[in-house]
Amino acid sequence: MTLSYETEHFNALIIGAGGAGLRAALELSQQGLHTAVVSKVFPTRSHTVAAQGGINAALGNINPDNWQWHMYDTVKGSDYLGDQDAIEFMCREAAEIVRELEHFGVPFSRTEMGKIYQRPFGGQSQNFGQAQAARTCAAADRTGHAILHSLYQQNLKAKTTFFVEHQALDLIKDDQNQIAGVMVMDIATGQYKLLRSKAIMLATGGAGQLFRTNTNAKINTGDGLAMVLRAGLPLQDMEFWQFHPTGVHGKGMLISEAARGEGGVLRNAEGEAFMHRYAPHAKDLASRDVVARAIAIEVQEGRGCGPEKDHVLLDLTHLDCHLIKQRLPGIRDIGLTFAGLDLCDSPIPVYPTAHYMMGGIPTNFYGQVKTIKDDQQTTTVPNLYAIGECACVSVHGANRLGGNSLLDIVVFGRAAARHMAQTLQQDTTLDHFDRPLQLDPILKRLQRWENAAKAQENSNELTLAELKRQLQATMEKGCGVFRTQESMQQTRQALDELAPKLQQLTLTDTSRTFNLERLEAHELENLFALAYATVTSALARTESRGAHSRVDYPERDDAHWLQHTLYFQTHHQLAYAPVNLTPLTIPPFPPKKREY
Ligand code: FUM
Repeated sequence: MTLSYETEHFNALIIGAGGAGLRAALELSQQGLHTAVVSKVFPTRSHTVAAQGGINAALGNINPDNWQWHMYDTVKGSDYLGDQDAIEFMCREAAEIVRELEHFGVPFSRTEMGKIYQRPFGGQSQNFGQAQAARTCAAADRTGHAILHSLYQQNLKAKTTFFVEHQALDLIKDDQNQIAGVMVMDIATGQYKLLRSKAIMLATGGAGQLFRTNTNAKINTGDGLAMVLRAGLPLQDMEFWQFHPTGVHGKGMLISEAARGEGGVLRNAEGEAFMHRYAPHAKDLASRDVVARAIAIEVQEGRGCGPEKDHVLLDLTHLDCHLIKQRLPGIRDIGLTFAGLDLCDSPIPVYPTAHYMMGGIPTNFYGQVKTIKDDQQTTTVPNLYAIGECACVSVHGANRLGGNSLLDIVVFGRAAARHMAQTLQQDTTLDHFDRPLQLDPILKRLQRWENAAKAQENSNELTLAELKRQLQATMEKGCGVFRTQESMQQTRQALDELAPKLQQLTLTDTSRTFNLERLEAHELENLFALAYATVTSALARTESRGAHSRVDYPERDDAHWLQHTLYFQTHHQLAYAPVNLTPLTIPPFPPKKREY
């Protein structure tokens, strides 16, 4: 192979500069480790910036709360697929980590008493399901923005090294099959770089771009997850995708759950606030899977709004406009920009939109990546960590609660970095920089796109963008809010037809946009890998649990399916691993019927 690349060496390498990656990087840099962060975009443009409603912690600033209630809600929200050791770890750390964020400079909104403001979010309760809690700590409706900027500034102070606008392409193994580095591309110059590191942490975020309508940034193409698959490691629980109940109808942008937390109500074409029929107690603040299904059913049964009867309305017009401007300024802006409507005096059309991936790279709560050995026993992969949305710890199980994702990224970002730092400091044998590397697979993939670009003659009728649109459309159709064997099989067939087309594509422009096209080609390759992971895992799970809602198998089936799915790319193989139903220090929350 003739492709050239530079090589650099680090102690710790983090791929991704969202909240998880930046929290981890801060810890490692502060502990004096030579740490680099690779980011596809400028760090403060990472998708954490779009997180709106807030971060959960049982601070009890509005009404009484404690971490056990938070834990109970999270286990129940997960439809009992979440690992209870990891959930306890996260909920116990929550209050302290929110105070830490405050000290880092996050400008949380305040109560009249000057305490951190907390709003009610879906699936939250006091006293194990008795009454609505208010647990979501908010900086107006721009909480992710505030957290990301504060963490970036802290990293500048700690002198973390950044590779800005660099695309991670693949994990590189050494001759003893250990993960030894990452190949990246400088998007501006097209130059490849091999970053070798004693330990590597993946924090590449989600892959919402798999679906036509989604709340995700264009960069959310599951790069780290596909890299893991190509390295022969599994992804866990990829059948579980969260559809946020309230995306701007037809467009998908997020209208935060905070809108309902502050008193907004969903209405159908008859003006009925219909959620009482689906969740008699929690109503509009039931968990997301329940609310998304309720909206889809209203539309299916003919009670949708508008000429096509294809959406419902989110109504805040009964609220004080001053309160909307103060607590939901970003949401009001989104309504004005994307629907041309002012929430103060007009309800806004909404429909469920792909939002979050509960599955991901399996890890324990120290972020160590897990796999299974030939004897089916679980083991951890040396030197490799994963955190944030790309990881599956699993604290969200089959359905994540709103406000638990910002919590997940900072809790496990910090925990994984502490574990990695300790490992690096204790184990002096981790310096394998002299070992030869297995570079052929990545060099072949890179050469393929170089050749595609050099084939000047473009006979494509299909473009990368069109192929991506077709992939997103088939995923939305077959693996959306409701699924059946038939719908998913059709998607599987469509994937078999579409995937080879990617390999036949040539790139249309060899000049200025060449690097961007190469970047998009890699992203699309990654999305196809995740589409197969999703549809294969979903077809096999013959039950309904959390966000995986099968019309042909409407009930949860704990006898057969209280287990995690593991998907391997080779031959689309599946394996299963037990759910950890044992918390660290308190009695378990055994599975029971889930009602809101
Ligand atoms: O609705 C929201 O503000 C989203 C929050 C989340 O996904 O945690």
